[in-house]
Amino acid sequence: MKHLLSIDDLTTDEIHQLFETAADMHDVQNREVKKLPALRGRTVVNMFFEDSTRTRSSFEIAGKWLSADVINVSAKGSSTSKGESLRDTVLTVCAMGVDGLVIRHPASGAALQVSEWVDASVVNAGDGMHEHPTQALLDAYTLQRRLGSLEGRHVAIIGDLTHSRVFRSNIQCLTRLGARVTVVAPPTLMPSGVGAWSAAAGFETSYDIDAVLPTADAVMMLRVQRERMSGAFFPSAREYTVGYGLTRDRLALLKPDVPICHPGPMNRGLEIAADAADAAQSVVLEQVSSGLAIRMAVLYHLLAGDLQGENA
Ligand code: NCD
Repeated sequence: MKHLLSIDDLTTDEIHQLFETAADMHDVQNREVKKLPALRGRTVVNMFFEDSTRTRSSFEIAGKWLSADVINVSAKGSSTSKGESLRDTVLTVCAMGVDGLVIRHPASGAALQVSEWVDASVVNAGDGMHEHPTQALLDAYTLQRRLGSLEGRHVAIIGDLTHSRVFRSNIQCLTRLGARVTVVAPPTLMPSGVGAWSAAAGFETSYDIDAVLPTADAVMMLRVQRERMSGAFFPSAREYTVGYGLTRDRLALLKPDVPICHPGPMNRGLEIAADAADAAQSVVLEQVSSGLAIRMAVLYHLLAGDLQGENA
């Protein structure tokens, strides 16, 4: 594996291998000295052309705990704000001898395009509305730790599906691991063409959150992505919450101890009530610590040796 651009780049075996490595990496978090020598002498650049708190810091910490040299480049403060093209910025940075390039960009397909320009291994940390593979890996890893195998488990993904790269990567990852997936959204936030896609990929769709919640073994709430909306997709925030929010009343519809996920950042009071975000069964912060372990595993496999155990 040279790059991680999409869940599609991974075989099911490779997903399981990444989870095994992540479990080892997870143990590092409990050590007093959180440092492994695996990527000593390697350089990783985080290039973020969109806002990020957890993804960027977790890639940064992951690289540092593996002893790589990590530098951050963001759109604000880089020469792209002076008119430099993405290609020139990327080639400039890579001319400094970079081994790994972690990129987040508002354009779908940006990570793939960049991977064709550079020799470094490219990790897609979110490209527009397209994919966010490490988020899907960390979500599945978190759920697997909670539920055991995902085989036959019913996962409900609820929220702004149209604008969500997390949903697009999760569909591939969860179905590959044998989960049954139902996606729920208001009609305006259900992606167009979802009918043919769901039939081909083997997931279900629903507009009725109250019918789906009692049957779920795990619930994944997604953020309403106002920054990607050009028009009005629902009449008011209040109406969205009444129709599709995980409210305190809806918590009672869930089977006991069903894990509640949210990739963050959360709009508390809109798609998820504080009672749900802070409930004992919420795994939102566990997703963050799993994310670190998964990103350590991904950087390790890309930069220290491939998934078959040979050197890259
Ligand atoms: C997601 C993203 O950026 O795609 N967040 C994340 O990576 N933690 C989801 C979102 O922004 O809603």
